[in-house]
Amino acid sequence: MSEELTFRKAKREDLPRISEFRKTFFKYNPLMRSYEPEYYEWKCYKNPILPGEMWLAEDGDKIVAIKNVTPKMMKALGNITTVAEMGDTFTHPDYQRRGIFTTLSKAARESIINKGISLIYNIPNKDTSLPGYIKKLNHVPVPIKLRSLVHIINSKQPLKARLRSRLLASAFSPVIDTVSRAIFRIGMRGVTKSDVLIYAEPGFPDDINTLWEQVSNNYDVMLVRTKDYLEWRYVTNPDTYSILIARNRDGAILGYMVNKISLFESIPKGFICDFLTIEDDPNVLKKLLSTSLRDFYHRKVSRVSVWVVKGSFYDRILVKLGFLPHAVAVPLMCYKNELGSQIVSHAYRWHFTLGDSDGI
Ligand SMILES: CC(C)(COP(=O)(O)OP(=O)(O)OC[C@H]1O[C@@H](n2cnc3c(N)ncnc32)[C@H](O)[C@@H]1OP(=O)(O)O)[C@@H](O)C(=O)NCCC(=O)NCCS
Repeated sequence: MSEELTFRKAKREDLPRISEFRKTFFKYNPLMRSYEPEYYEWKCYKNPILPGEMWLAEDGDKIVAIKNVTPKMMKALGNITTVAEMGDTFTHPDYQRRGIFTTLSKAARESIINKGISLIYNIPNKDTSLPGYIKKLNHVPVPIKLRSLVHIINSKQPLKARLRSRLLASAFSPVIDTVSRAIFRIGMRGVTKSDVLIYAEPGFPDDINTLWEQVSNNYDVMLVRTKDYLEWRYVTNPDTYSILIARNRDGAILGYMVNKISLFESIPKGFICDFLTIEDDPNVLKKLLSTSLRDFYHRKVSRVSVWVVKGSFYDRILVKLGFLPHAVAVPLMCYKNELGSQIVSHAYRWHFTLGDSDGI
């Protein structure tokens, strides 16, 4: 280990080395999304808002830490503004607790702020990076309860892994799965007669912007979900997402949902990454959910995860349909600059989903 470390913004040709470095940390969020060079290429160089930035710390020609900032547009307290998510936070185990994450984060933050970014948010790992964000980087928790909900579809495989017994898993899983399905079915009563039609689409239609204009009025803070952004996030992304669009019988757009399946220890898990629906008819969300769950079921998914703001319209419906809160809350934070201070001064109405993080 040499004394002199270099901190710098990565170039395109660094991406394969960054990808290799990132893969050495597989136990953190294994395989929820790609870590290949083309993923970082997409993240940094295809962003329609502003280029994203990867930052590196090097010891000679060896990468010892990385950090990313990804620009996004946000509607925040009545204004549309450019913000950035901080992610890909990793320091090589041999170099930890030497202030590298702190220095790299400050450099990345300063660089992106100089490009006109007005807010930086992040979703840290509770046990590792969260304390540093608070103690060294002046990031503070956003005062909303963002939670992860889980719906069991097929509990046999995960039970087998947890109980280490095929016999016990075979005995308990039919009961768990039946109860989970029954609660969902009760919550779905009357929905089949509703006028909502669901279409699986390869991309986002132009009138997604109308939906955004309409629904964004219900919230004080949320990422801008216009066609440009959604196409970049879920269609040009090297990973595969499925897109559902809800319309009424006259063809008017009512909502969308974006889903993904990832393998965990060879068991497929489902993720409801993103959604937005009109809120005067709960059947829109319910129909999107039932179509999604049917697809997850056919694709042998064990359980489905979704992030939702506690107490929101979406949260209430998901809980009624048998989605169970995960014990650990999702820590959403932001840098306490001018806009950050305003945003954390009050529990504003947020819409925030799994896809608003770079973890999926
Ligand atoms: C989290 C991580 C990036 C920190 O990197 P680092 O270069 O060691 O961080 P720093 O030396 O700048 O630490 C700054 C402060 O953060 C806190 N901190 C760092 N690592 C910590 C840990 N494992 N547990 C608790 N606090 C920690 C400390 O307050 C530390 O200051 P101190 O050393 O003066 O007490 C690194 O531990 C890592 O890569 N962990 C594994 C991957 C991971 O969890 N990444 C986060 C994904 S969001």
